[in-house]
Amino acid sequence: MSSLNVCVSDFEEKARKVLPKAVYDYYCSGADEQKTLTDNVVAFKRWRLIPRVLRDVSTVDLSTWFLGERLSMPVCVAATAMQRMAHHQGETATARACQAVGTGMMLSSWATSTIEEVMSATTAAGGPGGVLWLQLYIYKDRALTLSLVRRAEQAGYKAIFVTVDTPYLGRRRDDMRNRFQLPAHLSMANFSTASLAFSEDSYGDDSGLAVYVAKAIDPSLSWDDITWLKANTHLPVILKGILNGEDAVLAVNCGADGIVVSNHGARQLDGVPATLDVLEEVVQAVDGRCDVYLDGGVRQGTDVLKALALGAKAVFIGRPVLWGLACEGEQGVVEVLELLKKELQLAMALSGCRSIAEVTRSLVRRFEFTSRI
Ligand code: FNR
Ligand code: LAC
Repeated sequence: MSSLNVCVSDFEEKARKVLPKAVYDYYCSGADEQKTLTDNVVAFKRWRLIPRVLRDVSTVDLSTWFLGERLSMPVCVAATAMQRMAHHQGETATARACQAVGTGMMLSSWATSTIEEVMSATTAAGGPGGVLWLQLYIYKDRALTLSLVRRAEQAGYKAIFVTVDTPYLGRRRDDMRNRFQLPAHLSMANFSTASLAFSEDSYGDDSGLAVYVAKAIDPSLSWDDITWLKANTHLPVILKGILNGEDAVLAVNCGADGIVVSNHGARQLDGVPATLDVLEEVVQAVDGRCDVYLDGGVRQGTDVLKALALGAKAVFIGRPVLWGLACEGEQGVVEVLELLKKELQLAMALSGCRSIAEVTRSLVRRFEFTSRI
């Protein structure tokens, strides 16, 4: 009998055993010395919960509104590229799992399944499609960029999350050592080979993905491009990768419909703060003018609760989904999401919160610890 997975790290440990080393390394890595990678997780330990008692928590409602959609919980799936390296059904399995659990999925531009295929995976039983959003990288080729947006609109995606922290790819040392590339039987499915699918070239000593980004992605991206994107789609546009109040205000001024406080899972600039530590600054700067979300290091229900208390409307998880997918495909992702749901429900009950609306700033306090915990 295989052992039970009682927390997200149990899934990670199993995933590490089943995945090829280069794939596990790619999924797991942060940039450079990986200081921020550790800090994203540790930051949650610096904040402590201050529970309220005697509040009748016999029922706890985790459901929430997210850009006009009712979700079963404020935990959604972040874009992670190339999910078919984890499981042969890749992104289609993740989308079905999200639908089963009642949450939403952000599909990477660099998925190994097409935009249309992923939506179809959620409509196969004949019902309405799942809640899907497209993560967008802005290519040097703006016509190609807009074609992704149009395809998402036509397929019924509900929002565009534009990633703003990747003018170049961060240096992930293991990927360089492994000369990481997409296995030959897979492709970045949203592009024809003519438009730079990245598995063909020779990359010298670098990560294949870093070479691809340098070739295809526009490092001259500026705020004008956000205005351009807003003018070119009726879908909500959310900026993913903001880490301070100044940029948050510029985002609001450009008409952003939301902000994800994100350091890209610590894969871009090492040495930036943990996302949890800058969340409140962003929330205060935005002052209710758009939604603020957070990703990075969320590994358990109490983490979600702390982020909500500091003003996030919802959180996204990246790597935990990949671990679930690697362990058991769709079922594994369901298990990871259900685990977080259960943990969040219990954490809310034990804190005296009966609904997401009752999670307020007074629930958390920051402590500095000198010892390791
Ligand atoms: C990512 N992330 C990411 N972000 C993005 O905008 N587009 C992408 O294609 C990817 N791809 C990707 C691949 C892998 C393997 C990882 C781990 C991450 C970043 C992702 O959306 C999110 O910001 C982080 O993963 C959140 O941190 P945690 O939950 O992984 O700690
Ligand atoms: C990464 C890219 C795909 O973090 O966003 O690997």
